[in-house]
Amino acid sequence: MEDEQVYDRMRRKVLWSIVNGLYLVGSRYEDDCNVMTCSFVTQVATSPKLVGIGVETESKSAELIEKSKAYTLMFLRRDQREIVRKFVKPALCDLGKHEINGYPYEEASVAKAPILKDVLAYVECSVYKELRFDSHIFFIGEVVNVGSNATPAPDGTPAADSRVLEVLRMEDTNMHYGG
Ligand SMILES: Cc1cc2nc3c(=O)[nH]c(=O)nc-3n(C[C@H](O)[C@H](O)[C@H](O)COP(=O)(O)O)c2cc1C
Repeated sequence: MEDEQVYDRMRRKVLWSIVNGLYLVGSRYEDDCNVMTCSFVTQVATSPKLVGIGVETESKSAELIEKSKAYTLMFLRRDQREIVRKFVKPALCDLGKHEINGYPYEEASVAKAPILKDVLAYVECSVYKELRFDSHIFFIGEVVNVGSNATPAPDGTPAADSRVLEVLRMEDTNMHYGG
């Protein structure tokens, strides 16, 4: 019994150590929309360009994505960790004002899913395949559009490492997910 608990703790620690970014996933079906915090995110193929997300089976997001077959993936800046906590339960969407939990958004070309205005970058995906598990559905989405709000430094010099964006990571917070 004790051995089992030790093993469980060790397994969780190893699985928590998988390096993850922290993203927001936007979804919409008809008059219902949502944004959720998501860390199970990875590129799956380059041709076609596929990006996968693991979404809890019972979540509102899973329901909306299954119906609309589309989602948006938003990349946050490293100083935006407070946003992550605002999207851990179904969000309040004001379609008229284009606000979700009070954050202004724009509509994606896919399913009119929300893209918060103040994000570093975003990817719009159309669902290509779904893998269903007990806890999560792994949606594999084809990238149909990408946008970036990343700006050069005020003095005009490019960012320190211009090959990639400085995105929010799990290690920037004291949170964990999965395991
Ligand atoms: C740090 C962190 C990472 C998370 N990562 C995921 C994830 O990868 N997949 C997921 O389904 N939920 C994840 N969640 C939980 C969801 O954000 C939360 O359950 C979700 O907003 C509920 O889904 P709904 O609003 O679509 O019902 C994470 C939560 C936190 C705090």
